[in-house]
Amino acid sequence: MAIAIMCSGGDSAGMNPAIKTFVDRALVLGEIPYLIYDGLEGIIDNQIKLATHEDVGGIVHKGGTILRSSRSKRFFEYAYREKAYQNLQDLEIDKVVVLGGDGSFRAFGQFYKDFGINFIGIPATIDNDIFGTDYCLGVDTALNVIRVAIDQIRDTASSFRRAFVVETMGRDCGYLALVSSVTSGAEVCIIPELSYDLESLGKRLQAEISEGRIYTLCIVSEGAKATNEIAKWIQDDVGMQARVTILGHTQRGGNPTVYDRLMAFKFARMAVDKLLASDQVHDVVVHKDSEFDFVSIEYINSGKYEIDPELLQLADRMVR
Ligand code: F6P
Repeated sequence: MAIAIMCSGGDSAGMNPAIKTFVDRALVLGEIPYLIYDGLEGIIDNQIKLATHEDVGGIVHKGGTILRSSRSKRFFEYAYREKAYQNLQDLEIDKVVVLGGDGSFRAFGQFYKDFGINFIGIPATIDNDIFGTDYCLGVDTALNVIRVAIDQIRDTASSFRRAFVVETMGRDCGYLALVSSVTSGAEVCIIPELSYDLESLGKRLQAEISEGRIYTLCIVSEGAKATNEIAKWIQDDVGMQARVTILGHTQRGGNPTVYDRLMAFKFARMAVDKLLASDQVHDVVVHKDSEFDFVSIEYINSGKYEIDPELLQLADRMVR
C-alpha cells in the first residue's frame, strides 16, 4: 500500500517544507509516496503522481504550495468522493496527509466515514482559527508579511500626518489583526472578538493629536467588516486624513519563515510516522500548550477556536 500528501483550501507558507519532509521521510522508511495535485479536485480528477526526491528538491524556501490547492464543491457530493476513492484504490493509496483548514479536515472526515481512507491532517491556514491547536502552519510568515507592510505604511503615514486603516485577512478570526496591532504598536485594533468604543477612542486620539501625535495606525480584521466605517470615523470624527490599505492576498505569499519551516518539518514527520504506525486513523496533529499531540477529527470539529484571553487583554488600550 502507498501513502499520499495533498493541500486543500487556502495555501499557506510552510506547505512546501511539509511536502518535502513527507517525501523524504517516506522514502527513508521504504514507503511509496504519492503527490496529489490541485487539492480535493485533484483526487477526483486523478492528478496523482509518484513522488521522487527531484519533485521536492529546492522547495523548502518557497511560499504557496507546489501541489497547488483548491476549494472543491464537487467533493461534497458522494458520487465524486466515490470517484476519488476509486482513483486512490487504483494506486493502492490508503493513507493520506492533508494540509489545510477545518473545512478540508471535515471533508476528509466524511471521506473516512464513506470509504475508510486513513488520514492525518496538518493545520495549515494563515487564519489560525482551527479548534484544538494553538498554531497553524503559515501564521508566522503571514504575520511577518503584515509587519513589513505596516512598517512601510508607517513611513508614509508619518510623512503626511495621516491615519492608515490596514485591513488584514483571517476570515472570521481576528488573530492576525490582534497580533499585528500589538506588535506594531497600533493605536486602534478592530476584531470580531473585542467590542470597541469609538467615542472614547476618538477622544483619546484627539487629545494625543493636540499633544503632537502626527499619525495613527488602525488595524482592522476582515471579519470585523468595519474597514470603511473606521476610515470614515477617523476622517470625519477624529479629524485626521485617512487612507485604507487592504493587504489581501499578499498575506498568503512570501517565503516561509524559519519558524514555519521548523513547524512544517515537525508536523509532517509526526504525521507520516503516525499514519504508518496506524491501521485506522483519522486524526489531526496539533500544537497545544507548546506540546505536539494528535486529536481526532471529531474533536477538531466539536468546538470553535478562541483566541487566548491573555493575548486579547494586550489590545485593551486599542479598543477604548
Ligand atoms: O482561509 C485563508 C483565507 O486567506 C482567508 O483569510 C480569506 O478570507 C480567504 O482565505 C480568501 O479566500 P480566497 O483565496 O478563496 O479568496
